[in-house]
Amino acid sequence: MQMPPLEQFFRHFDPHSAAIAGAPVTERKLSQLEGCYADSPAFKAALERLDAVIYSVSSLELGGGDGDLHIGLGMVMPGKIGAEYHLTRGHLHSWREAAEIYIGLSGSGMMLLEGEDGTDAAVPLEANAIVYVPGHTAHRTVNTGLEPLTYLGIYPAKAGHDYAAIAQSNFRQVVIEQGGKATVMRRKDWLETIRLETLRADLENGAKE
Ligand SMILES: [Fe+2]
Repeated sequence: MQMPPLEQFFRHFDPHSAAIAGAPVTERKLSQLEGCYADSPAFKAALERLDAVIYSVSSLELGGGDGDLHIGLGMVMPGKIGAEYHLTRGHLHSWREAAEIYIGLSGSGMMLLEGEDGTDAAVPLEANAIVYVPGHTAHRTVNTGLEPLTYLGIYPAKAGHDYAAIAQSNFRQVVIEQGGKATVMRRKDWLETIRLETLRADLENGAKE
């Protein structure tokens, strides 16, 4: 079989702008993340202010065969919706067995991992960190810092992205700011906290009227 010229497999990338030379960039705006954040009123209010780009991915797809790999260079912008840090939609791979390797480049954040068997974890994603995402595991990245979070993801070319499966249930964990610190909580506990805070604020407003 005739191999292509091997020079074509070389690229420069910029870890700070998350660009790979010659690779297309996909941007995700806030409006495309409906249902991802726990605090719906905060999401609506933020969207009314600005439909900002929350994250982008440069995708380098140099081969599509069974044994090939694809590379994604992700960048999540800093910020929060309510108290919840900016995040990616998160996905399972369409080919569930496909694993992925994440390599943190700059900024600081976390990865939420959620296995189809019900296990879950939150691990750091930052410079000098490697996260191995096994097959059958939904994964989402979260920027908990003040700078853009950038990272490389390397995965089988035939992995595919299944966003719908995790969108139905959403991740069971959320990463929120509490007392100036990134805190991982169960989504249901955080929703209950928001509900009680809203109730308390409504009562206080009612008392003033
Ligand atoms: Fe992935």
